[in-house]
Amino acid sequence: MCGIVGYTGRSAAAPKLLEGLKRLEYRGYDSAGIAVRGEDGFTVYKRMGRVRELAGASTLSGVTGIGHTRWATHGTPSEVNAHPHVYGKFAVVHNGIIENYPELKRECAMRGEVFTSETDSETVAHLLEYYYRGDALAALKQTCARLRGSYALAVMCLDDPDELFGARQKSPLIVGRGEDGLYLASDAPAIAECAELYLLADGEFVRLSGKEVHFYDADGEIFKEPTKFVPEKASPQKGDCPHFMLKEMYEIPTAVAESVVDFESDFRFNEFNRVLCQTEYIQIVACGTAYHSGIAAKYAIEKLARLPVEVTVASEYRYREPIIGQNTLVLAVSQSGETADTIAAAELAKSSGATVVAITNLPNSSLTQTAHFVLYTHAGREVAVAATKSFNAQLALLYSVAIALAKARGQKADISSLLPFPALCRTALTCAEKVKELAPIFAHAKSAYFIGRDVDYCAALEGSLKLKEISYLPSEGYPAGELKHGTLALVEKDTPVVAILTRKALAEKTMNAVSEVYARGGKVLLVTHLGEYAERKEVAAWVPIPACEELFSPILSVIPLQMLAYYTSLARGNDPDKPRNLAKSVTVE
Ligand code: G6P
Repeated sequence: MCGIVGYTGRSAAAPKLLEGLKRLEYRGYDSAGIAVRGEDGFTVYKRMGRVRELAGASTLSGVTGIGHTRWATHGTPSEVNAHPHVYGKFAVVHNGIIENYPELKRECAMRGEVFTSETDSETVAHLLEYYYRGDALAALKQTCARLRGSYALAVMCLDDPDELFGARQKSPLIVGRGEDGLYLASDAPAIAECAELYLLADGEFVRLSGKEVHFYDADGEIFKEPTKFVPEKASPQKGDCPHFMLKEMYEIPTAVAESVVDFESDFRFNEFNRVLCQTEYIQIVACGTAYHSGIAAKYAIEKLARLPVEVTVASEYRYREPIIGQNTLVLAVSQSGETADTIAAAELAKSSGATVVAITNLPNSSLTQTAHFVLYTHAGREVAVAATKSFNAQLALLYSVAIALAKARGQKADISSLLPFPALCRTALTCAEKVKELAPIFAHAKSAYFIGRDVDYCAALEGSLKLKEISYLPSEGYPAGELKHGTLALVEKDTPVVAILTRKALAEKTMNAVSEVYARGGKVLLVTHLGEYAERKEVAAWVPIPACEELFSPILSVIPLQMLAYYTSLARGNDPDKPRNLAKSVTVE
């Protein structure tokens, strides 16, 4: 999604901005641009497509500048809609959505101002110019008071050649102090070389001036401590793998091993364990892949701890007036910790009296600021837009929570049942060659379906999401027993259907659905450790996975499905790391 970098210091700004934007590329974007303050004012350079298209801007002279990668929300992806936007004495880059921009735009138009782009963001530049009376910070404060929605802003004013201004409301903004200057960024990796980082909170402003950083809130200047969070210095590399997605799948065993937690015997979680003992009701809020890990957690928590669990897509939860009782625990799951809907859902839950636990992969992300407790998945940086290892890590952590909840209620459960999973994942990864052979079947299909029962249904949902995200093949994940109530109508000759089968007790039931597919000419690919079912005539192909503790099997069974999405994406000529229209971190509603 959109990314911001700003720099003011002793060095040329353009190379710094381009390097920072390159490090933000993984977030997903469609155009990019920079503006540098030179002798004669601002020089703006924007291009559609990749950051490398801005290479021609690297020689721009000037030591202060702002840059942006844009993921279109308001206005088509185009050079004119790319940021920075310049109006009068101001250049602006913006992350987020200005929800009241139509009325603000009308107001500007009535004053005779002409807009060059279709974006909501350009209104910010117009308002800055309108409110400017020689004090850019004052104009920024007045402008922000008019904005509804979310924003991280980086602003330059022609009258302040060595200064940058920033503001944050529901979209992250970080200030960095490096050896040769001061930085602004939406994301720590963009300014990883900085020795000191400061996180802006909602409603705060910053002015970077020469060597000085000044922070403000609505009432005046405030003091801020640098954060203790140390971002990784080096960007992740693909190594021998052709894509980040493949590399990240091979990191699943480590991600799982690092994310299993024995809460009960770790004194750092004493307070958390106390909360688990009191919990009567659990709500899980998340989006995308993280939502699917929530569904898998529901099966495990209900079965092990006998506690009711409700899982809701965060964008629905936030407007649903959810019922929160006294001992409600809300688990907000988000790899990035920056998903706007998940953060809003967590805030709503907190203000309604729930205890909120953030489950995230990113230290210091915005979600961690909202929650009462933070539990980290230790998957390492995930670069590919389609989540893989972070899903397996979320499962490892959520299953650890399920075990802790069960033990807190005196139910039988033990963390030792999760310990074999890293090794089992390693074995499951050997499916790659077999899956690669099967990918052409999917690559040439019109659509594909994934079915399973119970925990296998959770894997089916995630397998389907992966396939549609990166291969652009219409696909659906369905409970095997529900197939005949609708989706079976879509199965015709050679329609590929992936059936996941890890629950032995339900195997015959799932096989009924397999027979129904076979009878309509569908081609069934079976993912199972139960070889006896793979031999049946209804099964066109079998991807074996190792046997494991059934309740936790999605950690394993999803691996061939992730692989299938990857190889189908390649077979269809796509870039699996950067699917069209999608972003890694969705910081807008
Ligand atoms: C985007 C990504 C998905 C991800 C979802 C939730 O849509 O493309 O891969 O699952 O956001 O992200 P989060 O960071 O909150 O887990």
